[in-house]
Amino acid sequence: MARLLRFLAVLVVALGLLAWGSFHVVNSTTQAWFEKDIALRAQLAVNGARWALLSRWDPAQADAIRDVLTEIARDERIMGAAACNSDLSLLAATTEYPSQFSCAGLGPQVRQTPDTLAKDWRTSTLDVQLPGGRVHVSAVPIVYVGKAMGFVALVHDMAFIDRREAKVQQLILIAFGVLAVAASLITVLAGRLFWRWWTQEIRKFLKGGAQRREFRPILRDVRELIERIAADRALDEEGGAWTPARLKQTLTQHLHGEKVVILANREPYIHDRAADGTVRILHPASGLVTAMEPVMRACGGVWVAHGSGSADRETADHDGRIRVPPGEESYILRRVWLSPEEEKGYYYGFANEGLWPLCHMAHTRPVFRREDWEHYKIANRRFAETVCSEVDSDDPIVFVQDYHFALAPRFIREHLPRATIISFWHIPWPNSERLGICPWREELLQGMLGSSILGFHTQLYCNNFVDAVDRFLEARIDREQTAVIHQKRRTLVRAYPISIEWPSHWLKDSPQPSDCRGRVLAELKLSPDTLLGVGVDRLDYTKGIEERLWAVERLLERYPEFRGRFTFVQLAAPSRTAIERYRQLDEAVATTAARINERFSMGEYRPIILLRAHHEPPTVYRYYRAADLCYVSSLHDGMNLVAKEFVAARDDERGVLVLSHFAGASKELTEALIVNPYDLDEASSALATALRMSPEEQQERMHAMRTLLAEYNVYRWAGRMLIDAARLRGKDRLTGRLSDHLTGPTESRR
Ligand code: G6P
Repeated sequence: MARLLRFLAVLVVALGLLAWGSFHVVNSTTQAWFEKDIALRAQLAVNGARWALLSRWDPAQADAIRDVLTEIARDERIMGAAACNSDLSLLAATTEYPSQFSCAGLGPQVRQTPDTLAKDWRTSTLDVQLPGGRVHVSAVPIVYVGKAMGFVALVHDMAFIDRREAKVQQLILIAFGVLAVAASLITVLAGRLFWRWWTQEIRKFLKGGAQRREFRPILRDVRELIERIAADRALDEEGGAWTPARLKQTLTQHLHGEKVVILANREPYIHDRAADGTVRILHPASGLVTAMEPVMRACGGVWVAHGSGSADRETADHDGRIRVPPGEESYILRRVWLSPEEEKGYYYGFANEGLWPLCHMAHTRPVFRREDWEHYKIANRRFAETVCSEVDSDDPIVFVQDYHFALAPRFIREHLPRATIISFWHIPWPNSERLGICPWREELLQGMLGSSILGFHTQLYCNNFVDAVDRFLEARIDREQTAVIHQKRRTLVRAYPISIEWPSHWLKDSPQPSDCRGRVLAELKLSPDTLLGVGVDRLDYTKGIEERLWAVERLLERYPEFRGRFTFVQLAAPSRTAIERYRQLDEAVATTAARINERFSMGEYRPIILLRAHHEPPTVYRYYRAADLCYVSSLHDGMNLVAKEFVAARDDERGVLVLSHFAGASKELTEALIVNPYDLDEASSALATALRMSPEEQQERMHAMRTLLAEYNVYRWAGRMLIDAARLRGKDRLTGRLSDHLTGPTESRR
């Protein structure tokens, strides 16, 4: 309704403007016509009386001339007439002739020279506003055998023209008024008729046409879109911003406060014995941990993970359990122990030499060995059993994380057929041709289909997964719901783009950006006017670290103004160092940095500072807050949370994010400078743009990205999955699969 009223208001204003314009055009045109008409009439009147006037043209015959003039002025629109001699003296005038239009006054306009030659005289006209109204004066020469005898002045009353104009204006206004009403009515009527026709057609289509095969995909897409929009809206309208409290409340409200058990290979807290014998707690460099740890702090429960730290055993109890985070102790970390052979086969071998390169298009060949596969199966079973030992009901909620555990959902389901298993794949999912490289692709797919909900970062990865099932398994695909029905079990396949906690708890104790900058520049012995870029990554070939350094090199080649001023600091956490390809990368990055430094060094100045070490989050945040730019140059990345963390760190709304087009985050952080990391000209131009960007533009871009992240944070991500899981459980109960459970022991426990 409001929209319609707005439309009508616009229509009326538009017609009003049109009426006003038309009135002016009509007015000036008719006025010109009337004036022309009057001039013509004056000419005719004088011409008609010409002989009568000429025969009396003598001051002695003034009365006779006045009679002729009175005859001419009989026309009601002529107020008066006067005859003027060639010397511009008055011969005669009618009684009403206005005295201000004297012969001497009008003469210079009629007579070009004091001569009486007819060619020097011409008819002249004049418009004058008198107190009683507007008048028009025409002065017409009286010519006899090439000589001008004088002229006759006629004063026309213009009031009738003004009256006519007023009438025309009135008529135009009425016409446009009628038009406005008619147009509004027709628009409303046409809109209603069209809407009715459209809804009827849609209904018809949904009833009958939709059954036709060729329409089904369209219908499915429309339904899916509507459902997704409705679910998103409901989620955002229900309870305001997503916070840890709201996530906890979602868990209580929708899932009766069920205990959450998560399974992830990487533990959130690693106890490590340092060289001096002391035990340190490390926060691993892992996107998965960055995202999941705040969720666990909000929800509580158990995190089952590989105990990989050198002091992990001694800090946990005899079951491998320990309360974390240290000092806060809001959930339990349950450590699972692996022998070096198991870790080599399951983690380094199958997960990181097989699946990791299989899922990332980063030009490293996947290696699949049967013994690694056997270890992968054993480890998945061991972790799944541990999960089952941690649950406290027969329909628990289990979150299975990432490519280390493709088989675990199925193993958990074997023990707990009623569990709600939400699996999330944190890395890209390849297309079917690529997946086909894996000799155990069918087993992987079957294992994952043990999940109730299977989440990926993007719809593309969901589609790739469903296509792979279609290609490699005997399964039914419900494209309407994007679900797979395999061995009578349904798995929903959904996109849930992951995010970070908001606000980040690391910011609480972080110094102001200017202090961070001061400290970083002092630590690195850089001058205060240094332009600082940072990169923060695990040393992994998917991150495009070499390409990043080449882009810096290209920047210095193309823009000499930055030589000696721009320094790029790469925080590079050693990762998976037991794998040859990672060792090669480590070397290649070091060699590249050294070569570029050699090329562009000047005195103390080195363009690249490579810090190959694990850095704890407070240090990482210090660098984020100190930097003028952060460059994330992934060659292929499911999401990349470094990009989001950099934005979260900049509460001063300064700094520029340069982001690879091949990182999932580029689909959300569109105000970053998006580049193709392989295109070194493009990437170096973006770096130059970032370094020259005005503070106002930096703020505008940063503000937009921060607004997005504040809303789409990790609590919303987890909340959406929990709500979907709750809906699924509701449906399952209704369809009877859990009907006996309604009165069973677990239900009564709640
Ligand atoms: C990626 C994976 C995570 C993993 C992280 C660090 O983000 O998706 O599962 O934890 O890399 O790798 P790491 O092998 O050290 O756990």
